[in-house]
Amino acid sequence: MTSNCADLQSWASLIAAAWQVREYAYAPYSGFAVGAAVETKHGNIYSGCNVENISYGLTNCAERTAMFHAVAHGEKQIVRMVVCADTPEPVMPCGACRQVMQELCPNVEILLINKAGQTLQPTMQQLLPNGFQQFPQQKNKLKETKQK
Ligand code: THU
Repeated sequence: MTSNCADLQSWASLIAAAWQVREYAYAPYSGFAVGAAVETKHGNIYSGCNVENISYGLTNCAERTAMFHAVAHGEKQIVRMVVCADTPEPVMPCGACRQVMQELCPNVEILLINKAGQTLQPTMQQLLPNGFQQFPQQKNKLKETKQK
């Protein structure tokens, strides 16, 4: 997991989008605001914040909001993701988000950043080694569905 990457310049728009959308976080229960932004192969940026609910388990994290935002615009090829929060260390995606990332963007480049500008760049493999990938008996069926 690399940290304090030298090439922050190429991430600037994505980082700005993540901080901007964090302002819209709906987090009345935790008080913890998170922003995320993804960039697609076409060069478009989709952002998302965490959205909580009084039925806590319904909460949607910033990462999933951003990925679903891209998919809802017909963009499934996510190549980069930024996640930002005001934390002592860059915020780590939760397990649920890691599972969704594995499915939607297994080769995504990830940048986690805090207010102090500290960064981490974990790989998907580091975040979710040996994640659940497929039902063995449905291997071919699933491939067909994904290609559509
Ligand atoms: N949260 C995120 O949005 N992303 C993360 O990576 C960690 C957790 C949100 C979910 C919830 O609204 C709040 O932070 C506290 O868990």
